[in-house]
Amino acid sequence: MHPLEQLRDGALHEIESASDAQSLEAARVKYLGRSGSISAWGEQMKTLGKDEKPMVGKLLNQVRNTVTAAIEERAQKFRTERESDALANVDISLPGTPHERGSLHPLTQMWERSIEIFRRMGFALADGPDIEDEWHCFDALNTPPEHPARNEQDTFYLPDGRLLRTHTSTVQIRTMQSAPPPIRVIAPGAAYRRDELDATHSPQFHQIEGLYVDENVSVADLKGTLEFFMRELFGPDTAVQFRPHFFPFTEPSLEVYVKSKALKKGEQWIEVAGSGVVHPAVFEAVNKARGDNAYDPGKWSGYAFGLGMDRLAMILFDIPDIRLFAQNDLRFLKQFV
Ligand code: DAH
Repeated sequence: MHPLEQLRDGALHEIESASDAQSLEAARVKYLGRSGSISAWGEQMKTLGKDEKPMVGKLLNQVRNTVTAAIEERAQKFRTERESDALANVDISLPGTPHERGSLHPLTQMWERSIEIFRRMGFALADGPDIEDEWHCFDALNTPPEHPARNEQDTFYLPDGRLLRTHTSTVQIRTMQSAPPPIRVIAPGAAYRRDELDATHSPQFHQIEGLYVDENVSVADLKGTLEFFMRELFGPDTAVQFRPHFFPFTEPSLEVYVKSKALKKGEQWIEVAGSGVVHPAVFEAVNKARGDNAYDPGKWSGYAFGLGMDRLAMILFDIPDIRLFAQNDLRFLKQFV
């Protein structure tokens, strides 16, 4: 027997009797490692004579292959055992870990429903920044400097004189600045006022602004549009009432009330929006900023409205307290799946 064959048999025996992955690895290092005894034969080859070399070289290759294969086979066996051990502890009859479905915030749902209804009537989406200047929030909307809404007690002012918009009506101005009539847009977004936080007031609240400018637009168009919207939202037997009011940027101005048997507060009129026919002074302010007469009040007319989203969601979903919208309480949020 050639010493290489003896070495091989010894190695195979050790591999066969290795009881775990560690002792198998020790055997691999011992025979095939960089200074293992089979590897050492590679060095020894150099000292052999010409006649011996081919035979021993061939034998060395065979031995190395045989031992390598034996190690791999045994290693595979250990791996399989380990995997089935791991699986033995898994009860595949147990129910899986449930992944709870998320849901949209009730205000988001309200927005999506509302936007969808206005889209069907041909309104496009517009938006503007939450941080505004006084001109877009007040001056351009025909609100004089002495108007109480401009008071520091009512409006959040930044040190540089800018402010958090107190309504989304700012987007009316921005939209008209950037495009000539006709206009048919809605602008959903947040608005801010220095209100004390209570069940029905929040310093941050949400509106959908609407603006329609075309030739011969009248109060009738405004009423028809908002009536249709409210009935789509709250159901066909929703009654809509318009009450005279005052806003600086509309003339006439109307507050919008709804009443519907479908709602918990069924028998009560609830105020949900401000609206009106765009005041010519608003068109004039826009023209001045644009440097043209695109919104010639003699040619164009329009209506506008601002819907209180928090209020609408509160009556639609029967939510008693506006603070719930911002508290992130899952017990609340999970009710709107
Ligand atoms: N901006 C008003 C508010 O927040 C609501 C409003 C009234 C919006 C009349 C309008 C409008 O567009 O025409 O109280």
